[in-house]
Amino acid sequence: MATVFMEPSTRTRLSFYYAMEKLGGKTVEFGSPKVSSTDKGESFEDTIRIIDGYGTDLIVVRHPSEGASKLAAEVADAKVINAGDGSREHPTQTLLDLYTIWRIFGKISGLKIGVLGDLRYGRTASSLAYGLSMFNDVKCHFISPHILKMKEEVLDRVKGKLDYEEHEDINSVMEDIDVLYVTRVQKERFPDSEAYEKVRNAYTINREFLEKTQSKTIILHPLPRVDEITKDVDDMPNSRYFEQAANGMMIRATLISEVLGLEI
Ligand code: NCD
Repeated sequence: MATVFMEPSTRTRLSFYYAMEKLGGKTVEFGSPKVSSTDKGESFEDTIRIIDGYGTDLIVVRHPSEGASKLAAEVADAKVINAGDGSREHPTQTLLDLYTIWRIFGKISGLKIGVLGDLRYGRTASSLAYGLSMFNDVKCHFISPHILKMKEEVLDRVKGKLDYEEHEDINSVMEDIDVLYVTRVQKERFPDSEAYEKVRNAYTINREFLEKTQSKTIILHPLPRVDEITKDVDDMPNSRYFEQAANGMMIRATLISEVLGLEI
């Protein structure tokens, strides 16, 4: 497996690595674009062709441009997994998000799920919406500042399949949800820092807020978090985001074996 990550990553990159170790395979890291020929101007397609030519079975791609994984899949013979493409999708994160919810509740259908934060630039939020739209009877509350609303293309794709409402205020929905999926405001995807500053602290989930609302709502987050969940939430029974991150390894091991047709 080759991991080609053109954007920072801790959990996704390392959980793919540990997953492959568990399966007894080997991983080659492309390394940062700075130490490769990307810095000399080599195109992404050429980089993928070269990695593919060394007999790689699987290429895991993260890239700031939307559609990069699709492009990689078009030029490579190897199987390609999308590990995040720009602000569009992050499907393997959704697999572990759904798995975590299923482990906690024993089901997904029938649940009420709040998705909070940067729904415009956050690819985990879009992919989660697509994933949830495959189950029956899920109610979604999309909560964000107006400028970070879920993209129309995402809403269009889930329309008729997912029952959703949009909100700016978290308080009105808190009592009515089983899960609150919190996301980071994606600083690196904003066109200017002024717009980011206006919304960076739009929501803060802290101990006081959860105690005040007496909420049993499960708190999830794809991580990394910045200020949107404070550390004093970490030891509350609501917080399940570290367990969620840990689930990433087994989910990715299963995915790798499915994609490569391994017998495990
Ligand atoms: C997310 C990502 O990269 O989209 N992180 C992750 O893979 N767990 C979320 C984020 O960066 O905010």
